[in-house]
Amino acid sequence: MRSFMGRDILSLKEFERQEFFRVFEIAEQLEPIARNRRNSDLLADKTLVTAFYQPSTRTRLAHEAAMHRLGGHVTGFSDSKMTRAGDWYQESIKDTVKMLEFYGDVIVMRHFQMGAPHEAAKWASVPIINGGDGWGEHPTQILTDLYTVLREKGRIDGLKWLAVGDMRMRTMHSLGYALTQFDCPITFVAPPANALFDNSPDMLMPESFKADFRQYGLNFAEAEHVEQAIAEADVILVEPVMQPDYTKERDVRKGDAGFTPDNYRITRELLTSKAKSNAIILHSLPRMDEIPTDVDITHWSRYWQEAFNGVVMRMALLALVLGAME
Ligand code: CP
Repeated sequence: MRSFMGRDILSLKEFERQEFFRVFEIAEQLEPIARNRRNSDLLADKTLVTAFYQPSTRTRLAHEAAMHRLGGHVTGFSDSKMTRAGDWYQESIKDTVKMLEFYGDVIVMRHFQMGAPHEAAKWASVPIINGGDGWGEHPTQILTDLYTVLREKGRIDGLKWLAVGDMRMRTMHSLGYALTQFDCPITFVAPPANALFDNSPDMLMPESFKADFRQYGLNFAEAEHVEQAIAEADVILVEPVMQPDYTKERDVRKGDAGFTPDNYRITRELLTSKAKSNAIILHSLPRMDEIPTDVDITHWSRYWQEAFNGVVMRMALLALVLGAME
């Protein structure tokens, strides 16, 4: 197995099966620190730099909280408008990260351009963690989700997945890559063009990702309606279909977003009538109306646990790439 020390975490396409399990092992070891709301000194001499060119609640703050839990330091920006990258200069990724690498030991970057963290990794001598890039990938979120499945179901292999939502979404691409390393069939349910409103975009899994998934041996299918696939599912992963354009730096909603059609909603009624009683629901959040709030307290819901695990997973990744754990 390759060492994680000094490694960039850019994509799950590059992740090997035993590397997933090593990350999960480290997460499990560090979990009590977060569970007991304590701080340790594992990364006391290290600093995390956050470079967020797009809004975030969970990804940035979970990385920051993880660093604090491990006794480390945090600096960075949550809005590029306050930097030279977001003003008149439009400073390049190269010039920006060649500064940031002097301010800390690891950089977590979210960007509206697919591939921006990969570009940063070309120039930085410290590890780059991809915190979500345009319609690209979101590897730390899906590591969190797989860890949640492992903790909640006791295994990953042999479970059937249903993924519902906008398949342009970066989490969906990291998920597809990740499941190539496990025995996990998956069904994707997403709206085709014009399904939501006149001229609504095509949200089916892009052909380029499907070609990759086939090449890497993912067992996947597509369905039109959640009702066609939910009865078989052990893990139901949901993302919105009413959502912003992730290729924009900031997409502010004007007026009502509209309602999510039933084909892409997981309601309490649907769960009660069709889902396995021991299935679990994941949602990386934020949500719109695709999971009504009355699902939150059902026995299927695991998205709050997933949110807690988001801190634990970032603790594991930071400890590994900074060489505090091997
Ligand atoms: N799940 C997730 O990426 O949330 P944020 O956009 O709030 O970081």
